[in-house]
Order: sequence, then C-alpha cells, then structure tokens
Amino acid sequence: MKIASVVGARPNFIKLAPLFKTLKMRFTQLIIHTGQHYDYEMDRIFFDELKIPDPDYHLGVGSGTHGYQVGEILKKTEEVLIKEKPELVIVYGDTNSTLGGALASCKLGIRTAHVEAGLRCFDRRMPEEINRVLTDHSSDILFCPTRLAVLNLKKEGITRNVFRVGDVMVDSIKENLKIAERKSSILDELCLKPKTYILATLHRAENTDTLERLKAILEAFERIPNLVFVCHPRTRRILEENGLFAKLSEKILMTPPLGYFDMLILEKNAEKILTDSGGVQKEAYLLNVPCVTLRERTEWVETVQAGWNILVGADKNLILESARSFKPVSEKKKIFQAGASKKILRILENYLYNT
Ligand code: UD1
Ligand code: UDP
Repeated sequence: MKIASVVGARPNFIKLAPLFKTLKMRFTQLIIHTGQHYDYEMDRIFFDELKIPDPDYHLGVGSGTHGYQVGEILKKTEEVLIKEKPELVIVYGDTNSTLGGALASCKLGIRTAHVEAGLRCFDRRMPEEINRVLTDHSSDILFCPTRLAVLNLKKEGITRNVFRVGDVMVDSIKENLKIAERKSSILDELCLKPKTYILATLHRAENTDTLERLKAILEAFERIPNLVFVCHPRTRRILEENGLFAKLSEKILMTPPLGYFDMLILEKNAEKILTDSGGVQKEAYLLNVPCVTLRERTEWVETVQAGWNILVGADKNLILESARSFKPVSEKKKIFQAGASKKILRILENYLYNT
C-alpha cells in the first residue's frame, strides 16, 4: 500500500513530521513537495530538524498568485500521481498546497485524506478558509482535531468517514519540546530571559496586504516594551517595498523566520504571544501562554471560549491594551487530544486494507 503526502508550506511540514513517522510502520510513503515555500528557513530547516526524509518529488512551484500556485500544484501533482498510482493521498491544513494536492488527487479518483479537517473561521475573504472548505469537500477521509470541527462538517453535510482524532501538532510538540530545550540557544542569542518578553508573528494576507491594517499593527508593535518580532518573508518584503523595514528594525527586536526548535522555545518562554498565525495560536494554548490574535475571526474558536486567546484584529489601541493586560481568567480545558498520528494509522489500516 502506497500513501503520498502533498506538502509545500511551513505548517504542512510540521504536521507531516509526526504522521510520516507513524505511518512508516505499515505503509510505503512518498513525499511530494510543491515548492510553495523554498527559503532554507521556511523549508529545509524543518526537514533537517524533524528528520523528515527528502521529498521524492519536488515540483518547484514557488511564489505567485493563488491561481498560478494552485494551478501549477494541481497540474504537476497530477503528473506524479498518474505515475506513482498511490492508494491514498494525504493533505495537511489549509494552504494552497493543501488544496492543489486535494484537487489533483480527487480528480484522479484517488482516495484523499485531509488532516486538520473541519476548521472554519466563517470568513470567506481569507484564502485559507476557501482552501479548508474546498479541501474538505474534495476529501474522502476527514481527520478532525476537535469536536467543533466534526460539527462544522456535519452542518455542511459531510458525515461519512469523519474521525475526531486529536491534533497532530500536539504529537509534534510532545516529541520535540525536550529536544528543543536541549538544542536551542535562542534565548541566549537574543539576550532574553524567560517570561520577560512578548513574542509576535504576522503574515496573514488580510494584515500584510492592507497597508492601513499593517501600519496600525506596526504602530502598536513599536509601543510594546520587550517585543520580539519573528518576521515572515512575505511581511518583510511588503515592509521593504513600503520603506518601513529599516525604521522598524531599529525600534524593535526583529528576527528572520526561525526553525521549529527555536520557535517552540521562544513561544514557551514568552509572557504573551501576539499573532495572526493559526498554528501559533494553537501552540500558545498548548504551551500555556496567553495569546492575543491579530484577526477578527479564528478557526481555533475553543481557545477563545476557554479565555486563553483574545481576538483584537488590527485595532491599535486594543492590541496595546491586550498586550499590557490580557490575562486568562479560567483554568485551561483539554481541547486538543494527543495521539492523533496513531489514531490516523489505525483508521487508515482499516480503511485501506478492508475497503
Ligand atoms: C502561506 C499560506 C498561509 C500560511 C503560510 C505559512 C496560502 C494561501 N497561504 O502563506 O495559510 O499561514 O503559508 O507560513 O497557501 N516567500 C519567500 N520565501 C519563501 C516563501 C515565501 O520569500 O520561502 C515570500 C514571497 O514573497 C511570497 C510570499 O512570501 O510571494 C507569500 O508566500 P505564499 O506561499 O504565497 O504565502 P504565505 O504568505 O507564505
Ligand atoms: N514557526 C516556526 N518558525 C517561525 C514561525 C512559525 O517554526 O519563524 C512554526 C510554528 O511554531 C508553528 C507553525 O510554524 O508550528 C505555524 O506556521 P505559520 O505561522 O507559518 O502558518 P499557519 O499556522 O498560520 O498556517
């Protein structure tokens, strides 16, 4: 039995790592890398740190418009799938590589599994929301991280082969936090002491591509004491194009994208996290760090309901106020179950060998 995983962007690699290792016990696996992310620190570093084998195919798609990226991924993944004829294709999360991979697979009639299915933020202006909806509706097996994700699918009429398995990123943290503590020296490198700084990431299109929103967020960043801003290449490019990068980097501590080990250590030791990332919101919760989300809506609704995440959008004053005084009021509930990779293995054994 052959399973092909289609990945291409940073969060895809982090979700692939624990599952690839687990599925190795029972299946022959292929990795198809679309090439959506390509800088060392957005791509290769995760293969090295998480010991993911080199991709079997690299499609070299790179950057471009949504139409270009999804189109090229669809076309080039199809060529590989026709040649390799896997029994199953797995896609992860909500990137253009996720959607392109799912479309290529389902159009060829190959069974398709979506890891992190059923998430919704109910804002179709976000490219990730479109990718989630279309990927879920193109998939045959849906691996949901939470109860709410299962419910979201039910409301859209998807009830067959829907499994609540927990979250593969819990497995990833479990496997890697101790290693990260041993290997990372990022706190020393940046001269930081635990719980004395606020960590920020920012890269979602709705924030970076609207200059008004971007400027409001950056004005808030500049006024937050002890802020560490880990800057995505998309954001850096837009800052540079608008002549904002040099001025900002004089005022706050900025770093290029970091590897997973350094990122986990920075997250765990932060007093608070400011982010528009999906994965970072979830990791903040798992690592017991209060999160201020620079969006109006989130697909990780449970973290907000639990009182550990607050949505502030791009409102400068709200960002400043929350960075200063947001505190979770309630005890953390267990939202994200561990052991997703093993559950997925068992389900796939049954599904692929018995149907
Ligand atoms: C993509 C995902 C987003 C995810 C993010 C994770 C889509 C629609 N968006 O956004 O959901 O949160 O990845 O990080 O799939 N760039 C580089 N080097 C790279 C990669 C990108 O410089 O290795 C720059 C290029 O200027 C590129 C821009 O970043 O145009 C955007 O890259 P792209 O892959 O289109 O989307 P992300 O913003 O990374
Ligand atoms: N991440 C990382 N280095 C960074 C920023 C993020 O390793 O500089 C990790 C982060 O710990 C999480 C994942 O990347 O596991 C989240 O990806 P990202 O924020 O790029 O995308 P999203 O989750 O928003 O799709």
